[in-house]
Amino acid sequence: MIRTPEIAVIGGTGLAKLEGIEILESKWPTTRFGETSSPLIFGRFKSREIVFLPRHGEDHHIPPHKINYRANLYALKQAGVRSVVAVNAVGGITEAMAPRKICIPDQIIDYTSGREHTFFDGSQDRVSHIDFTMPYHPNVRNKLLEAARTLGVPFNNKAVYGATQGPRLETSAEIDKLERDGCDIVGMTGMPEASLARELGLEYASVALVVNWGAGRSDEVLTLNVLKVHLDAGLVKVKELLHQVIPIL
Ligand code: HPA
Repeated sequence: MIRTPEIAVIGGTGLAKLEGIEILESKWPTTRFGETSSPLIFGRFKSREIVFLPRHGEDHHIPPHKINYRANLYALKQAGVRSVVAVNAVGGITEAMAPRKICIPDQIIDYTSGREHTFFDGSQDRVSHIDFTMPYHPNVRNKLLEAARTLGVPFNNKAVYGATQGPRLETSAEIDKLERDGCDIVGMTGMPEASLARELGLEYASVALVVNWGAGRSDEVLTLNVLKVHLDAGLVKVKELLHQVIPIL
C-alpha cells in the first residue's frame, strides 16, 4: 500500500523510537542521495498518519557529521510529507536555557563544515538561492508554540541555535564566542537539516531540548550520564508536546 503521510517527526538523541506510534509499515526508501538513517516508520499517532525517522539510526550509531541529511529529507519529501517536526538535544548557553528546558528556536547560525548541505549542487540547469531569512517555518513553529502553551510546560518561545560540527563538545572559549555571536543554544544536528528542508519546500521547525549547560557554563563535567539524566527527564515533556501538536498540524 502506498502511504502519503503529511507529517514527519525526526527523532534526535534519546528519541530513536516514538512511543505511542502504532506502526503500520516500515520501509527503506531508495533515494538518489543514498541511504536514510533508518527505514521510514509509517504509523498512526494520535489518530494522524505520520512518518517517523530517527536521524541517528534506530540503534543511535550515526554521529551528527555522518548523518545523510540529504537522503533523510529527500525520502520524507518523496513520501509526500508536508510538515516536519524535528527534535534536537542541545546545550544551553544563555541564562534562560537551563537543562531540561524546551525551546522552540527561531534562528540558526551555521558553524558546520564539510557536510553535504544542498540539493542545488551545480547539477541543475540553473542557479537557485532559497530564502532562509526565517529558517523555521512559521506554521509549524506557531503550532508548536500553541501546543506548548496549551500543555502548560515551561518553554522558551525563541532561541538562536548554533549548529556546530562535532562530534566533540565545544571548548569554553568556543561557547563564549557562540554567545557573543548571539547563540542561545548549541547542537550538532540542526544544520544542514533545516536548510535542506527549505530547499525541498518542506515546512520544518524544531523542538530543542536542553540536556546540559554548554562547556564552561557550569561546574558539572560533561559526561554521558549527566546528559542522560536531563535527557530522560526532559523527553517526557517533549513527548507530551508531540502528542499535543501532531493533531493540530
Ligand atoms: N554542544 C553541542 N551539541 C550538543 C550539546 C552541547 O553542549 N549538548 C547536546 N548536544
